[in-house]
Amino acid sequence: MKTTIQDKAKLVNSVFSEVYNKYDLMNDILSLGIHRIWKDKFIDWMNPSRDSSLIDVASGTGDIAKKFALRNKNLSIVTCIEPNEDMFKIGKKNLVNFKNIKWIKSRAESLPVEDSMYDFYSISYGIRNVSDINKTLKEAYRVLKPGGRFMCLEFSKIDNELLNFLYKNYSKAIPTLGKYIAGSSKPYEYLINSIDSFYNQEQLLELIRKNGFTNVEYRNLSNGISAIHSGWKI
Ligand SMILES: C[S@@+](CC[C@H](N)C(=O)[O-])C[C@H]1O[C@@H](n2cnc3c(N)ncnc32)[C@H](O)[C@@H]1O
Repeated sequence: MKTTIQDKAKLVNSVFSEVYNKYDLMNDILSLGIHRIWKDKFIDWMNPSRDSSLIDVASGTGDIAKKFALRNKNLSIVTCIEPNEDMFKIGKKNLVNFKNIKWIKSRAESLPVEDSMYDFYSISYGIRNVSDINKTLKEAYRVLKPGGRFMCLEFSKIDNELLNFLYKNYSKAIPTLGKYIAGSSKPYEYLINSIDSFYNQEQLLELIRKNGFTNVEYRNLSNGISAIHSGWKI
């Protein structure tokens, strides 16, 4: 059966409404805390200057916005975009002391912000979850200033056979871990399937390029378990 855009949006929304209160804990457990290092590397590669503005899309509990704001000594304007009511509430609460961070409940495919507003656009473990990736990339292009930079952090394809074998076997245990720790296996089945069926590094690079960005490149993290893609609006 074909999954429609509405089906995917509904499914993804229900997944995050089921896991929101254990989201950060599960991230730490499932990645053994390594997601924090990947997110630091993401901000390192961004290398924002003090007055750079950021729109962080699919913000979830706010990790990227927080790291960016701390790096910039809270001097820059940051907008967080998050459509899921439960994730939105937690994210906003987590970052309540960051006065320069504004939250908007919205989807990546249609951003309620003007054209050419931001120096950076970030999407961390979000692009795999959007319903329409081309619309998402076009919106990213629209809201960036000329000279602005698109940055995406996402699970990707492993370039090492042994690690791939180990990772695939570990993945099979993730839904069971989800059941015992977070109370449900379904969201973690979705996680594994969505990672499996998502684009590889080169395919994602090509999509970003097709949607207008130049100098598109990527860096693998931990042999491609995750990858960072970067592209520029010239
Ligand atoms: C895996 S979480 C990532 C959260 C955070 N960025 C991080 O790196 O930990 C994915 C987030 O994407 C959000 N999301 C799902 N569909 C979306 C869409 N169409 N537009 C924007 N965000 C979406 C979910 O609600 C969820 O909070």
